[in-house]
Amino acid sequence: MAPGPVILSPIPAFLYLCRPNEYEMFDLKESKIQDEDRQGEAYAPFASDPSVYRKKFYIESYGCQMNFADSEIVASILNKEGFGATRNLEDADLIFVNTCSIREKAEQTVRKRLTEFRKLKKKRPGTLVGVLGCMAERLKSKFLEEERLVDIVVGPDAYRTLPTLVTEAEGGQRAVNVLLSREETYADISPVRLNSNGISAFVSIMRGCNNMCSFCVVPFTRGRERSRDAGSIVNECRDLFESGYKEVTLLGQNVDSYYFQPDTLPGRHLEVVNGEDRQDQEILISGGESGRKEEFEDRPITFAMLLAMVAEISPLLRIRFSTSHPKDITDDVLHTMARFNNICKYIHLPVQSGSSRILQLMNRTYTREWYMAKVQRIRELIPDCGISSDIITGFCTENEEDHKDTLNIMEYSRYDFSYMFFYSERPGTLAHRRYKDDVPEEIKKKRLQDVIELQGKLSYQSNKNDIGKIFEVLIEGESKKDNNKWMGRTSQNKVIVFPRDNSNYTKGDYVTVKVKDCTQATLLGELVSK
Ligand code: 5AD
Ligand code: SF4
Repeated sequence: MAPGPVILSPIPAFLYLCRPNEYEMFDLKESKIQDEDRQGEAYAPFASDPSVYRKKFYIESYGCQMNFADSEIVASILNKEGFGATRNLEDADLIFVNTCSIREKAEQTVRKRLTEFRKLKKKRPGTLVGVLGCMAERLKSKFLEEERLVDIVVGPDAYRTLPTLVTEAEGGQRAVNVLLSREETYADISPVRLNSNGISAFVSIMRGCNNMCSFCVVPFTRGRERSRDAGSIVNECRDLFESGYKEVTLLGQNVDSYYFQPDTLPGRHLEVVNGEDRQDQEILISGGESGRKEEFEDRPITFAMLLAMVAEISPLLRIRFSTSHPKDITDDVLHTMARFNNICKYIHLPVQSGSSRILQLMNRTYTREWYMAKVQRIRELIPDCGISSDIITGFCTENEEDHKDTLNIMEYSRYDFSYMFFYSERPGTLAHRRYKDDVPEEIKKKRLQDVIELQGKLSYQSNKNDIGKIFEVLIEGESKKDNNKWMGRTSQNKVIVFPRDNSNYTKGDYVTVKVKDCTQATLLGELVSK
């Protein structure tokens, strides 16, 4: 009864997405730091689905890529129980909001939305509203008891219990499950691709985070770090490739600390499609001829190995990943990136601050110098690598000197783009418990403006440096502004727009494009190959 994976455009956008869309990265005049417009976008595999379902659910997602990927897992779990996704709120028996807690503003947006849903419930009393994700985990049953905003509360590790919780809520019971798990990775669940362009997909490789950056609520809302079975990741990526996808982004809060210890149960297999170059893949027992099935040895798989395994699926499948923690990204990962043409030359390497003193308060476990050396190493091993960052202004005790250090490290790193935020104190975090949020809001915002302005210049400069260069581009679809043009991305994750030129190319094709001009956010090119 449940429909298989289905494909739809357009690409989802995220509050702190790592893939800025065409023209959308940031707009200085409006102080629009990144694309927040499509946060909360509702999506479903079909605009109108003719199948008959027990109930229909509507799901809206906020926050990071992980949340959007999780909504696809939720959809898969619900589908199996006979629930169908709808994009129309009016048709829905169940309304879900997959929430984000990373900054206060994200939570406020969701609260406002929940109030609207409550009004809707008054008109249609049978409708159930569920809150999923980080806010559910952070606020737990408060939603049911104090706020009475919703009927169901489910944390990020409890989605398998959602169908049971729906039944409980239908019977008028409290339906809460916010248990965090040390094992759950949803490895066996094949996500329903709810809102994809059919070309790029997100594949979750790990969950949770052990880092305890002092400003961050994620370790509390998403629990301990755990890595997903490498075989299931490779299989999911291969299935995507075989159904027409050309790009996968491997997702985790800290992908470089991916570490999977295969169990040695008999019958566990990993299919190796293309086994020529295997330096990093000693985990696979000898041989490696095309198409052979080989057993895992009882050896752990690191992120570098996983990258190589996914890259070997096909040279026509592009691999991206996010997010890298500067302390964890290894030379092994950089060498693997350099070795495979289809691993995109792009690293999202959040610095957060350029001041060693602030970095220490943030518990980032590296200094300014250490970070700079890492950037240097990336440039050395992958000279054409794109680098982006996350930056927070106005963290506790930050002074003008610290702020200058941040501006200075941005110049040193020459980021292609950044996601920039002012500090928002989150209840329960280390910073909340230990430090005073003592930088006045106007100063936080003024510094943020400085950071945005500098990033604007750096992005423009980086794009100008590409004029005259030739790139392999994966076509993702039509340009939103002009349907006579294609929009795609370079390996470095830069958006490029170019005239279709009566060519027979289509979405998902690789083409060669020469850069002729640029804006701050977009390269403008023309086709070289015809
Ligand atoms: N305030 C502001 N920005 C934050 N981030 C995480 N927590 C906070 C906070 N409390 C930013 C960091 C992180 C990105 C996902 O969100 O820059 O890398
Ligand atoms: Fe939060 Fe730091 Fe973990 Fe990223 S690495 S999710 S910023 S604690």
